Amino acid sequence: MLDIFDLSGKVAMVTGASRGLGEAAAKGLAKAGADLALCGRNAADLERVAGQIRDLGRQAQGFHLDVLSKTNVHEGVASILDHFGRVDILVNNAGVNNRQPVLEFPEEAWDLILATNLKGYFLVSQAVAPQMLERGYGKIINMSSILGAVGLPGQVAYASSKGGVDQLTKVMALEWAKLGVRVNAVAPTYFETELVKPLRNDPERFNFINERTPMGRWGYPQELEGLVIFLAAQASDFITGQTIYIDGGWTIW
Ligand SMILES: NC(=O)c1ccc[n+]([C@@H]2O[C@H](COP(=O)([O-])OP(=O)(O)OC[C@H]3O[C@@H](n4cnc5c(N)ncnc54)[C@H](OP(=O)(O)O)[C@@H]3O)[C@@H](O)[C@H]2O)c1
Repeated sequence: MLDIFDLSGKVAMVTGASRGLGEAAAKGLAKAGADLALCGRNAADLERVAGQIRDLGRQAQGFHLDVLSKTNVHEGVASILDHFGRVDILVNNAGVNNRQPVLEFPEEAWDLILATNLKGYFLVSQAVAPQMLERGYGKIINMSSILGAVGLPGQVAYASSKGGVDQLTKVMALEWAKLGVRVNAVAPTYFETELVKPLRNDPERFNFINERTPMGRWGYPQELEGLVIFLAAQASDFITGQTIYIDGGWTIW
């Protein structure tokens, strides 16, 4: 591992680390040397991921952290700081979706998506950033989506939340630019996870996504690792406030 990508001695915290892209991000960071605080609501799933990361020779521990509750976020972050002493890298990743046309979209689903995907990132960042700012160094990576920039039918709440994530990223980056804390967003296209299983199982949607993507396919979760490591590492120290697309070319046209 080149030194500028080396995360040895760093502590990384990932929300929604129990499966999918959060699990992939956590494993990527561990492969680059970081120890991991794995956050979510399912202790057994978190322990499964933690065990695999410990097998890589890193420290890993699951923490109950529901991003919908400010109290729970602060308690979870306090437990992580007790355990690891600090958080150098935060990956805001926990997310949900619900796909329905605008006129039928239930208010409760709108509220859940915005509260998880947008307010959750804000609450967790508010809880984690102060100790980064005190030390004058930190990396925050927000999991956005191509849907922060492009629209698709049925995605009114999700696309709104991800557009919000891109803006949240810019404002946090600006406020902390001179204080050593870099904030960037990663914007994936469709990757094979639980969240998008309904689309994968629908041949029409599956083919639409393949045909719409210049590279002609979905992403594999492991393909996220390189970008997450880059944004967490010294290699990206002069980059902040950016949304970087990892989308097989979707947003080219
Ligand atoms: N897969 C894609 O194609 C794709 C594309 C673009 C962006 N993304 C983004 O990537 C992120 C992860 O998505 P994914 O595809 O990996 O989804 P996933 O497989 O469904 O995983 C979602 C994760 O979020 C956690 N989570 C949900 N609500 C939570 C809450 N209230 N508090 C704490 N954790 C919560 C889940 O943990 P529990 O076990 O607690 O439910 C789970 O670990 C999301 O932000 C999503 O928008 C995904």
